[in-house]
Amino acid sequence: MARYRVLVVGMGKRGKHHATHFHANAGFEVVGVCDIDPARLAEAASALGNPRTGTDAAALAKELKPDVFCFCTLPHIRSEMIRIGVDCGASLIAFEKPVALTSREGLEVKALVESRPVKVVVSHQHRYGPHYQAVRETIAAGRIGKIHTVYGIAHGWAAHMLSHLIDYSMWFNDYSKARWVMAQAAGRRKLADVHASPDYVGGFVQFENGVRGVYECGGGAPDVPEVQRWWGKNRMGAVGSEGYAEVYTGNGWKAVTKDGILSGEGAMAYDQDMPGYIQDMADWLDGGKVHPCCFENAWAGFEVMMGAYRSAARGSQVALPIRDAADELDELRSALSSAPLQVTLEESRKEYGA
Ligand SMILES: NC(=O)c1ccc[n+]([C@@H]2O[C@H](COP(=O)([O-])OP(=O)(O)OC[C@H]3O[C@@H](n4cnc5c(N)ncnc54)[C@H](O)[C@@H]3O)[C@@H](O)[C@H]2O)c1
Repeated sequence: MARYRVLVVGMGKRGKHHATHFHANAGFEVVGVCDIDPARLAEAASALGNPRTGTDAAALAKELKPDVFCFCTLPHIRSEMIRIGVDCGASLIAFEKPVALTSREGLEVKALVESRPVKVVVSHQHRYGPHYQAVRETIAAGRIGKIHTVYGIAHGWAAHMLSHLIDYSMWFNDYSKARWVMAQAAGRRKLADVHASPDYVGGFVQFENGVRGVYECGGGAPDVPEVQRWWGKNRMGAVGSEGYAEVYTGNGWKAVTKDGILSGEGAMAYDQDMPGYIQDMADWLDGGKVHPCCFENAWAGFEVMMGAYRSAARGSQVALPIRDAADELDELRSALSSAPLQVTLEESRKEYGA
């Protein structure tokens, strides 16, 4: 029997994924769906057992008082939505990455979720893919020895991809805290996007356990020839004293270990990754293990991302944690030159206009 009533806000791509998989899980009942676009609501509701629908998230949340407030809107209204989730008394708030676009809004989100006891989950769900799991298990079992470096590469821009790269690589490193970040950025085109970002950002992170993080995200990143599809050309992994292990979002994984070479298949697919992600919410609500995509983990990655933006705009190493609010995107708008981005892949020209 369903134990938890869910309201899902935003019936676009990710909202529909979430609502579909809450509806498919016996622990949850979708009692409401919301979108400012009524046409999207009508289309979605019939596949979800015809829950209540509405275009005003605050009004619907107040009326339904859901156990789970889930929102999958675009990234510019995070604190507004979090406030609705906190105010309606939900036991769990589930929302999409990135945590926010700037530390100013991120710190507002953090203050709100810490204002009363509420479980919070951020959707870094790629980790449920078998290839991500295999890499994590290989590293955790000590097969690559003592790790000294973690890394992530993607060609999509930062507000889409950087928090994924950072989150999974920090998972490979047991979420050791980051001490500082130093980064550089180039390209202004995506600063005007709804997923506002520099076109290319690359940087280094020092983690408390001595491990170094190295990240490149955007149009200047190196190719990931293991993967064909542009959005799937992401490499995340770890190097240790006895080898390395890495996952390719769109095409499997590979490890060179002290016992030989290991590899396997796997490709990021929402229908594959969402059931476990949703089930872990039910388990956490039932009093079981903390969700692996809990806010604490997402926040740790968000600080690295904001630290990288600050470093690129200010020309310095940035110490973490972040305590003061800033608008890192405005800082980048002031600091970055208008020189066109030098893209690595021909396919990237259509996105970065270079
Ligand atoms: N985790 C992942 O793998 C993954 C993949 C893609 C996108 N995302 C993230 O998911 C989020 C949503 O992306 P998407 O691709 O689903 O976007 P989308 O544009 O398809 O959907 C957003 C929906 O929100 C609705 N909306 C906007 N403002 C609203 C409001 N105030 N109240 C109610 N509804 C509102 C829009 O009408 C739209 O239907 C983004 O933050 C994006 O970064 C995550």
